[in-house]
Amino acid sequence: MPEAQTTSAEEREFQRLIDADQRIEPRDWMPEAYRKTLVRQISQHAHSEIIGMQPEGNWISRAPSLKRKAILMAKVQDEAGHGLYLYSAAQTLGTDRDTMFDQLITGKARYSSIFSYLTPTWADMGSIGWLVDGAAICNQVPLCRVSYGPYGRAMTRICKEESFHQRQGFEILLQLMRGSAAQQRMAKESVDRWYAPALMMFGPPDDESPNSRQSMDWKIKRFSNDDLRQRFVDMLVPQAEVLGITLPDPDLRWNEERGHYDFGELDWSEFHEVLAGRGQANSVRVSRRRRAHEDGAWVREAARAYADAQAAPERIAS
Ligand code: 3HC
Repeated sequence: MPEAQTTSAEEREFQRLIDADQRIEPRDWMPEAYRKTLVRQISQHAHSEIIGMQPEGNWISRAPSLKRKAILMAKVQDEAGHGLYLYSAAQTLGTDRDTMFDQLITGKARYSSIFSYLTPTWADMGSIGWLVDGAAICNQVPLCRVSYGPYGRAMTRICKEESFHQRQGFEILLQLMRGSAAQQRMAKESVDRWYAPALMMFGPPDDESPNSRQSMDWKIKRFSNDDLRQRFVDMLVPQAEVLGITLPDPDLRWNEERGHYDFGELDWSEFHEVLAGRGQANSVRVSRRRRAHEDGAWVREAARAYADAQAAPERIAS
């Protein structure tokens, strides 16, 4: 069949699967642009998980109790596993770990803006769990229904652990808010710093999001950036009331007509500064990631040598 007709048959089959809400699997034909945007989003998601280990990892040796240390270690280990699932999902699209690593280190690929903020106090472990993982839950649960099979299956596993991440953060803040005046001040000061950056995690406003429309047509994105941001704020306010913490947003109020909370304008210039690499900790995070990769070279070499040795008998026999 002439190339043009063959392609239209393949495109028709791809669109039929998307329209029928069925999964696209690695073996299925897919438009190059679909593959490219998935590699972009999944690899950046994976980078976010791995870089996200740093702000919390910095507090493992300084956790206030053995229980808190154990919980934080478990959470950081979970994030490493999330990165592994997601890098593996991205590899089914034809990219590889070295390429994705180079894209991160050279700044060609992003990681989530939220992880370019510093964590000066223990309360930040609470704010990250409650706000960042809470936002991640709002953003990631719909991704369990993403049209690309390996990504959706990875997200299903990841989402099972995110609720533990969010709960342990909420519990840290609740404990501090039931503590001394100094502990309460530390918790409130931390939430003041993390509230707006957590809302920015959902991406720019819909009318400034170049990828959303196509991603929603391809059922990669199920909801828009603004819809998920609103869902997060609606979830957050009652929880802040339980904590006894006033969120740092004077425009935050229930809007009976909309059935949602109105909230204040975000400072998108700060968001763009962070994306441009001028956040509080961008260079620290990337250089730390580079060093970890270099320090781990011997593990990769040993694993490769072992795999070669395992394959060697077949080579000799063939
Ligand atoms: N941080 C960094 N870059 C961001 C961003 C953020 N918070 N939000 C948007 N961007 C970038 C996008 O990557 C895009 O740039 P690119 O085209 O160069 O990749 C640009 O800003 C425009 O944004 P769009 O809305 O058009 O881009 P998307 O359609 O990709 O939407 C997204 C952005 C909502 C983050 C989407 O990519 C997504 O849902 N990704 C998967 C989830 C994810 O990556 N979450 C990050 C946090 S992971 C996490 O929280 C782990 C948890 O365990 C703590």
